[in-house]
Amino acid sequence: MALQFGPFLTSKTMKSLSFKLPSNANPSRGSPKSMSSNLGYGSTSKENVKKPSVPSREARVPVTHSMPPEKIEIFKSMEDWAEKNVLVHLKPVENCWQPQDFLPNAASDGFEEQARELRERAKEIPDDNFVALVGSMITEEALPTYQTMLNTLDGVRDETASSLTPWAVWTRAWTAEENRHGDLLNKYLYLSGRVDMKRIERTIQYLIGAGMDPQTENSPYLFFIYTSFQERATAISHGNTGRLAKAHGDMKLAHICGTISSDEKRHEAAYTKIIEKLFDIDPDGTVLALANMMRKRITMPAHLMYDGCDHNIFSHYSAIVQRLGVYTAKDYADVLEFLVGRWKVENLTGLSGEGRRAQDYVCSLVPKIRRLEERSSERAKETLTIPFSWISDRQVKL
Ligand SMILES: [Fe+2]
Ligand SMILES: [Fe+2]
Repeated sequence: MALQFGPFLTSKTMKSLSFKLPSNANPSRGSPKSMSSNLGYGSTSKENVKKPSVPSREARVPVTHSMPPEKIEIFKSMEDWAEKNVLVHLKPVENCWQPQDFLPNAASDGFEEQARELRERAKEIPDDNFVALVGSMITEEALPTYQTMLNTLDGVRDETASSLTPWAVWTRAWTAEENRHGDLLNKYLYLSGRVDMKRIERTIQYLIGAGMDPQTENSPYLFFIYTSFQERATAISHGNTGRLAKAHGDMKLAHICGTISSDEKRHEAAYTKIIEKLFDIDPDGTVLALANMMRKRITMPAHLMYDGCDHNIFSHYSAIVQRLGVYTAKDYADVLEFLVGRWKVENLTGLSGEGRRAQDYVCSLVPKIRRLEERSSERAKETLTIPFSWISDRQVKL
């Protein structure tokens, strides 16, 4: 899957924008207590501070299984369509790239030379770029959580782990494609010699242990909107990371990032097509779902990230990718604008009163977000630097 969702902002912009963000973004308030309370996870008990891999329970009552039975039937009735229209976005395994295609081959005589060249190229890349890359890798490496999420969805979950419904086939094959992303970035970062792998690996373990909470209520309407966002956001962020690598002369890393970004675009095409079809079948239910997700704001899959020492690490990482232009508040607005256009939300007709209100809300959101983003980016000029565990506690500007 993926990387960030939603804007990455500094503490000042956070206060003025209404997106759901890891609101523990203020680097000056790095207490464990502020993490759990700011994230909206109710408990601030010592137990949760001591066991940050265990997700704190939310203060809110989580909504589950909100999709009524007749809507579950919609997904059953879409199976033939999904077979022909969704699975086509998967690539046969034999045609897929593999991480080894981009890495020194440890079984070849040239391995040491290739590894030395990789390390030489990596020396030209600044530390903050590495933080962005590590954050992408960690987010990709939390793939077990994303497969779990897909299998919470009513009407499309893989009931047996080898089910032959097109939804289940998609979920497993999508996961298998995504698995190469974290694998490739992980091996590249290991070979680069520029990062502290043990502390990165610890962050991955914490994150998978913590899970995620996108508030999608076991509903494929909500979660496929989420994944549509997420795939596009990830394509953007990997693409921008690649551009940074190119600017620092590492064409091979740029190629790696560009290749992963292309996969994300293919996945985006599949998920947005599912939502497009739902708009055809059930415009009212789909526009309500879209408004629902936008009101909740799209949280980022790695929002429960923790490295064992910095309780604000996700916000710090987010601030760095915002500053570098890897993924920004503007990108969030761009993704939403693209999807609203892609799904022709403005042109929907025959909606209920509630549906029309949802349509108006969604269509008015992009300009609002852009205005807020412009105002806040004028104000937000953080000058703090912090040590980052992923790069052996070297200082990075936020
Ligand atoms: Fe991915
Ligand atoms: Fe993806």
